Amino acid sequence: MPINIVIGAQWGDEGKGRVVDLLSENSDLVARYNGGDNAGHTVTVGEKIYKLHLVPSGIIHPRVIGVLGNGMVLNPQTLVEEMTMLNEAGVSINPERLWISDAVQLITPAHRLLDRAQEASLGKSQIGTTGRGIGPAYVDKVARRGLRAGEILEAEAFTTRLRTHFTEANHLLTDWYHVPGLEIEQQIEDYLRLTDQIKPYIHRVGPLIQKALNDGKTILAEGAQGTLLDLEQGTYPFVTSSCTTSAGVFSGLGIGIQPVNKVVGVTKAFQTRVGAGPFPTELEGEMANFLRGTGSNPWDEFGTTTGRPRRVGWLDLVLLNYAREINAISELFITKLDILSGLEHIPVCVGYKHNGKVLLTLDFSGEAKLLAQCTPVYETLTGWKENLTNCRHWNELPENARGYIRFIEEQTGIPVLNISVGPERTASISRS
Ligand code: IMP
Repeated sequence: MPINIVIGAQWGDEGKGRVVDLLSENSDLVARYNGGDNAGHTVTVGEKIYKLHLVPSGIIHPRVIGVLGNGMVLNPQTLVEEMTMLNEAGVSINPERLWISDAVQLITPAHRLLDRAQEASLGKSQIGTTGRGIGPAYVDKVARRGLRAGEILEAEAFTTRLRTHFTEANHLLTDWYHVPGLEIEQQIEDYLRLTDQIKPYIHRVGPLIQKALNDGKTILAEGAQGTLLDLEQGTYPFVTSSCTTSAGVFSGLGIGIQPVNKVVGVTKAFQTRVGAGPFPTELEGEMANFLRGTGSNPWDEFGTTTGRPRRVGWLDLVLLNYAREINAISELFITKLDILSGLEHIPVCVGYKHNGKVLLTLDFSGEAKLLAQCTPVYETLTGWKENLTNCRHWNELPENARGYIRFIEEQTGIPVLNISVGPERTASISRS
């Protein structure tokens, strides 16, 4: 009953899409278990670039079934647009190969407005959310008033629930945030028209996954965002509102705890973050521009969902070890090693100075306030000049690039089994 899990070991945007794409070749089901259309996975296949926010990127493989688990929040507008885009690109999407959990929580236009209004009201303390309504939709879930996909199937009751939802949201928007509310009847009409299109895709997903597992099928669980954005273990409060770690897989897919074949932690060869919050190894100036790129290439460090320039810095092994523990990572997939080519020296963070002491491990739960007080302790490795984008075998990498990877393995105690050296599907090196 093989379950494989891919998770982001940093603040998201580690390049999970391409890892999922690679592992999907040998998977029957590829399932998302958390988050919503705040995620953005870019997959490059030949000339085509797919930007996916909701549909699991594994669906690009014809035999894969894509699953949207109950741990997610789903914006039907985004889903319908994505299904249309994929169908037009020749990737067939139909109810046999895309299953939506009936317990998935729905995002409405009111959630998006509330997200933006809440952010605006925070002024300088903004979290820097993606503005996709993620937080407010999870708030409704936890407050036990959320709308679930299964409700779409009972039109009359759903209409009443939508009316209550928009009415309550309007109160908040107008009375509390002092921004215009929504025209309720129009919203209901539009929303019903949209949700009508996803009706055939709604299933009780947990038992279907369990049956697939019992039949010996392989499941790939595709995490969205990254460990340090986890609601429980991330850099709180600068986090997203879902469980981004491997622990969320079982509850987010509606299956019991069972053995996992492998947990692949995906990390860039350096560190990036979008949105606010502490970032001990953050760089500015020329070196930041070098790592970020100008934005002229699709792989430069600009957000897939929002287009915002990402904050960049050196690889932080204290945080990577934290991610290893929390997710029980069994192997690492390192992306974008090629970006470091040309640097004479590459600093890597191996500890923090905090309150006069040197910490080699994070001895607190990631909370933003404490992490912001940490300054990095670096070990500096020697860089390499060669372009790596054509390397396909471990032995083709320059000695210092291999040294960089070996250093990460020594410091984390986990094998680096894959390394990517370019945006193309084939531009990676497997060591397994
Ligand atoms: P939210 O998930 O839109 O509520 O945003 C909360 C925080 O998570 C913000 O700092 C976002 O920039 C960040 N975030 C959300 N989704 C992603 C992602 O897919 N990649 C990177 N950062 C993300």
